[in-house]
Amino acid sequence: MKIIDTDYLVVGSGIAGLMSALHLGELGRVLIATKKNRADSNTNYAQGGIACVVADDDSFDEHVQDTLRAGAGMCDAGVVREIVRKGPARIEELAGLGLHFAEGPASGGHGYDLGKEGGHSHRRVLHCGDITGRRVEEVLLERVQARQNIDILEHSMMIDLITTGWLRLDGENRCTGAYMLNEVNGEIFAVRAPYTILATGGGGKVYLYTSNPDIATGDGVAIAWRAGLPVKNMEFIQFHPTCLYHPQAKSFLISEAVRGEGARLVHADGSGFMQKYDQRGELASRDIVARAIDTEIKTTGARCVYLDIRERGEPFLRKRFPAIYETCLRFGINIARDLIPVVPAAHYFCGGVAAAVNGETALPGLLAVGEVACTGLHGANRLASNSLLEALVCAFELAQHLQAQCPPADFKCLDIPAWQSGDAVPSDEAVVVEHNWNEMRTCMWDYVGIVRSDKRLDRAARRIHNLRREIREYYLNYLVTADTLELRNISAIGELVVRSALRRRESRGLHFTLDYPETADTATDTVINDPPGGHIQELRDRQIVCSLA
Ligand code: SIN
Repeated sequence: MKIIDTDYLVVGSGIAGLMSALHLGELGRVLIATKKNRADSNTNYAQGGIACVVADDDSFDEHVQDTLRAGAGMCDAGVVREIVRKGPARIEELAGLGLHFAEGPASGGHGYDLGKEGGHSHRRVLHCGDITGRRVEEVLLERVQARQNIDILEHSMMIDLITTGWLRLDGENRCTGAYMLNEVNGEIFAVRAPYTILATGGGGKVYLYTSNPDIATGDGVAIAWRAGLPVKNMEFIQFHPTCLYHPQAKSFLISEAVRGEGARLVHADGSGFMQKYDQRGELASRDIVARAIDTEIKTTGARCVYLDIRERGEPFLRKRFPAIYETCLRFGINIARDLIPVVPAAHYFCGGVAAAVNGETALPGLLAVGEVACTGLHGANRLASNSLLEALVCAFELAQHLQAQCPPADFKCLDIPAWQSGDAVPSDEAVVVEHNWNEMRTCMWDYVGIVRSDKRLDRAARRIHNLRREIREYYLNYLVTADTLELRNISAIGELVVRSALRRRESRGLHFTLDYPETADTATDTVINDPPGGHIQELRDRQIVCSLA
């Protein structure tokens, strides 16, 4: 089996992975592994921008307060303060790397055109029109590709972490790299690295309707959990209130910035409804807006609601929202003349692998950054456009932290056993994967969505339990493919979300349940901390399968 050695294995090529790689490239050799093409990432789809205090009439304290308020008592206030305060330096760095944020008339001479989004008391979102994420990705990729000591391995999907615990080595358990699948030729190889950085993003694909691209299958969280790491607050799934409702549009996002520029949420007859739910109206925080839309759709029987931004006129809309304008036009909707049909869809995971701002997790040698991590910034509901900020700050802090570490000696002598496929055979029933994939996502959408109840969650738990058993058997009996791996991961995410949701006997932020509609006096994290076993057992099962063969 091929083994690749590197100083830092970075898994994922969105803003968190690329930014980490750029900083770590100052310290040693970096290998970025990404399961599709290098530019395929959730970052690419981020429309809104990066929330940061740059305006004179804004303050760190107000950004902190807005974040805490959206987070509904679940944020770690120290983490929020740290990330908000460290933001401006990272924005400067990004601008220095070549990112041109939109400029406009501004108070205080900062020169940026600042967007406004739900839950923010100020205009503070730096953006590049409605393609901020795409621009960030382009700039960072360009920089990464220019670096001699950073390599990018495309179409390489992580299967599981390799830990010294699994290798049955003495001493403290630590991460030593990962088994990977080359998606193109099916080869399985290992990467041996003293530090593995999970930057794999979120898992929106666990839901039938999502704003996320196909790659968002929660791989990092599922893999870390299997390796025994604590996973935190997985019940807090953010549903974006406004995804385009059109049979051919694959959950295309209509940015919250559209509401920030004055769009109203209305029914087909033009009547508004948001004031009934919150005095901030369309710019209430996302949990409130998504729940309001869900309620309106369910009570009126309508298939969707609408955004009305017509009054801003075509010249403004074309300039401020070029991608939204063009995409809607392709679907026959002229946003300067027509109402935009929208529905909520799964958008962001506030929970994830428990991690510090500097990426440290409970497993030495393993770090987590970006959406895969739960640092305490987002609490029970992420404030819009805080996630790219978090990724920038945490990637920098992670590199600072690793600079001060001494990697274990003789690392390259570590013996990594070859992957055993045992008597696994190529699958002749790929339909099983397809079927289970659809069942999983439908089950999550129907029973673990915006409004939950114990009955729905119990039903989901039973279904997912059966599905997971079947998926595990399939995983062990057939040769590994990317589809099987994603299904295995997505089913793990489903289990984590359902178990976390069942544990929370209150409604708070993004978790709303009919059985416990009140918010408890004290906010507590939901931590799932199963003993390491999942992947160790499955890895060992493979050895057993092999020795029997
Ligand atoms: C949006 O543009 O509405 C999405 C931004 C975000 O999720 O932070």
